Amino acid sequence: MTHDVIILGAGAAGLFCAATAARRGRRVLVLDHAERPGKKILISGGGRCNFTNLHTAPDRYLSENRHFARSALSRYTPADFIALVEAHGIAWHEKTLGQLFCDGSARQIVDMLMAECAAGGAEVRCNSPVDAVAREGDGFTVRSGAHVHSAPALVIATGGPAIPKIGATGLAYDLARQFGLKVVQPRPALVPLTLPPDGALFRELSGIAAPVEASCGKAAFREAALFTHRGLSGPAILQVSSYWKRGEAVRIDFLPDRAAGWLLEAKRQRPRAGLRSVLGEALPDRLATALAAQIGIVAEMGNASDKALRAAEARLAAWEFMPDGSEGFAKAEVTAGGISTAELSSQTMEARKRPGLYAIGEAVDVTGWLGGYNFQWAWASGHAAGQAV
Ligand code: FDA
Repeated sequence: MTHDVIILGAGAAGLFCAATAARRGRRVLVLDHAERPGKKILISGGGRCNFTNLHTAPDRYLSENRHFARSALSRYTPADFIALVEAHGIAWHEKTLGQLFCDGSARQIVDMLMAECAAGGAEVRCNSPVDAVAREGDGFTVRSGAHVHSAPALVIATGGPAIPKIGATGLAYDLARQFGLKVVQPRPALVPLTLPPDGALFRELSGIAAPVEASCGKAAFREAALFTHRGLSGPAILQVSSYWKRGEAVRIDFLPDRAAGWLLEAKRQRPRAGLRSVLGEALPDRLATALAAQIGIVAEMGNASDKALRAAEARLAAWEFMPDGSEGFAKAEVTAGGISTAELSSQTMEARKRPGLYAIGEAVDVTGWLGGYNFQWAWASGHAAGQAV
């Protein structure tokens, strides 16, 4: 055996796993087909890497087994990662909703991970395609170009297919199937949703954002929504997109802070005002105009019946959009689904029926909310496997 552990993928989870295992004295080799490590980290968080979230908890992750992430998340927490970031002298700040970003650049996080790998003696080889993987004796061999590497432990950390143009692939699923592990149907998540042509009115609003509450089924998020020329985006929509399934409606409450009866109250106080101008006090003008026109109350509010205003209020609180799709893996921030958690130990990430084989990070059917949750899962699952290999 050339190494104790071979890790496929030098992304967030793979590098963190490598550093953790190498610090324990394991001989670690990381292989990645990209020309440099951590490419998604580099483009994350608008270049500042939203590296964790203070509110990390298992209920902020989607998975067929919603308890699966609990063990790893509890054994490597945001506080642990913050301590590491600080030990490397990286300045950070909380932007909003517990989301922590580098003050400087995402490159600092990649440099930190590479420094941690180097400190433990882990070897990270880029430009190394994974041509074939096989089980041999008690271990695994990996053929990469002219090289054949072998180790008793193999970690799948090649992520999911979101953003293929930077080198994301479905290799994790191919390997899972090769080794007989179930894969939960992968789908784009944290992704803009598209609207059919009859959503055209809203296309005219392309570029306009408003703070709303967007919901899909029981999942509801209070953040900004953005109208685009193809449909809906912005953090609130990206969040609900992870829960959305074809044929389901997405609802938007345009005025989530208004108490019931607020439009009747507005009518009493300002009977001469139009609905458009009342809405314009809380929403961007063009959006207020479009909503008032769709509702069909154009005259003074004093002339509208209470019934019509109650109906308008209800509609504004649950405006229904029927997306016809999403912008797909090309625009998705993550992949939902992946290697089934039923196949893995939640303590170690090892495949129950394939001793020595591990899967971590986005490759696994654990998908976090927007806001640093996915990196925290990468660190935590990488740590769990790094402790075990
Ligand atoms: P990751 O994708 O990081 O790494 C996989 C590695 O495997 C890559 O280096 C890739 O080159 C390699 N690989 C893939 N296929 C291979 C093959 N066939 N052969 C060899 N190597 C292969 N999350 C968050 O918490 N905060 C944030 O701010 C952001 N921001 C963000 C922005 C954008 C634009 C995107 C696309 C994503 C985010 N994310 C995020 C999500 C986050 O980047 C993602 O969840 C983690 O990077 C997942 O870590 P992994 O290590 O599992 O995969």
